[in-house]
Amino acid sequence: MTARIHLTEPTPHQTLTLTFSGEEVALRGRVKIPGDKSISHRALMLGAIAQGETRIQGLLLGEDPRSTAACFRAMGVHMSALEAEWVTVQGVGLGNLQEPTDVLDAGNSGTTLRLMLGLLASHPDRFFAVTGDSSLRSRPMGRVIDPLRQMGAQIWGRQGDRQAPLAVRGTTLKPIHYPSPVASAQVKSCLLLAGLMTEGDTTVTEPSLSRDHSERMLRAFGANLSIDPDTSSVTVHGPATLTGQTIVVPGDISSAAFWLVAGAITPGSDLVVENVGINPTRTGILDALQAMEADITLENPREVTGEPVADLRVRYGPLKAAHFGGDLIPRMIDEIPILAIAALFAEGITVITDAAELRVKECDRLAAMASQLTALGAKVEEAPEGLTIHGQSPLKGATVESFGDHRVAMSLAIAALRTEGQTVIQRADAAAVSYPTFVTTLEQLCGLGPAH
Ligand code: S3P
Repeated sequence: MTARIHLTEPTPHQTLTLTFSGEEVALRGRVKIPGDKSISHRALMLGAIAQGETRIQGLLLGEDPRSTAACFRAMGVHMSALEAEWVTVQGVGLGNLQEPTDVLDAGNSGTTLRLMLGLLASHPDRFFAVTGDSSLRSRPMGRVIDPLRQMGAQIWGRQGDRQAPLAVRGTTLKPIHYPSPVASAQVKSCLLLAGLMTEGDTTVTEPSLSRDHSERMLRAFGANLSIDPDTSSVTVHGPATLTGQTIVVPGDISSAAFWLVAGAITPGSDLVVENVGINPTRTGILDALQAMEADITLENPREVTGEPVADLRVRYGPLKAAHFGGDLIPRMIDEIPILAIAALFAEGITVITDAAELRVKECDRLAAMASQLTALGAKVEEAPEGLTIHGQSPLKGATVESFGDHRVAMSLAIAALRTEGQTVIQRADAAAVSYPTFVTTLEQLCGLGPAH
């Protein structure tokens, strides 16, 4: 067996070259993954608007949380270095974010921009200009601007006030009951944050439940919330008072998913991914892989500052194709690119439906995965709302493109582990958005780096 992994320097726009031949590399041992991206954003934001100090351990040091931190620092919030073992945030108290002297830049991060908009819109008499990178500037913001405007928000932007850059003049909002047409935690969280300073009950009803990290953390910070699981509704009773907390961020199941699939598809593998957040609104990928008969077991389940956590053990075994759609999709919305890689190695035809939301992520992930897996020799059909993936076509190395999307880049790297010859992934540096140490861990698992 030979395996080589080569990452070109310097940034930006690194290319990741993976070369495999002969027997596959068995992945064995224990893997530590970075902190949960969603929880990291929320810990920084709630810490910023609470009264007193918030202490955060295990924060994701990816580019996205760095964007959140930069935005709130620009509005007068003191935060320690994000590299510290315990990051401290000196909260300014609700309603006390300062008017920034320059444009707030959310980078590549939809969570930063959409959640922050709820806070900015509800800060009376302050003006904010917000933007992001070219991917974020092309993503739909109408989904949060429309309901915020129903609350009385003043927001303007490109493309008929639907895309960034955006201008916001904060004002006193009124509460609404918003039936969201999409199951989106970013929409829900934006409105809950807007409701914090709003007198009365702000309610969001979702078509099916999206991740509930905001609800859990808002309650921990002292907000008064009512949750109706039968109707997927959540109400914030405003105005709230938030008090700084201690938050321990679990590992990100969306990052763990790369190793779970890598272990499941690579003969001889037996891996434990440590300290993974297993909030039930995020574990769709475990349900999906188990439906494909992957050998995944939960070890050492525990609760860490209000979020369930476990170690996940995966062993190689044959996979079977399955159909995925409906309420499962929001519970694994970020894992569909890597699920598509599992499907490539399953016996039969995997069909993913109800996944149109993937078209408005960091790139159009349905188009990206269909075209790039086809380039590797796979048989994949793209549908308006999903993918059909024919399992077990032999893969051959090729040059593929991440489209600057972190999850596409990492999914293609995992496919390359079982692709004969050389796979070159362009713009692989995108991985740093959510998983800056991805390539190092990949090298270690392939026996190419120092043991950890
Ligand atoms: C996120 C919600 C999801 C997800 C994103 C993070 C969050 O987006 O795709 O990576 O932290 O709230 P949507 O709410 O748009 O589905």
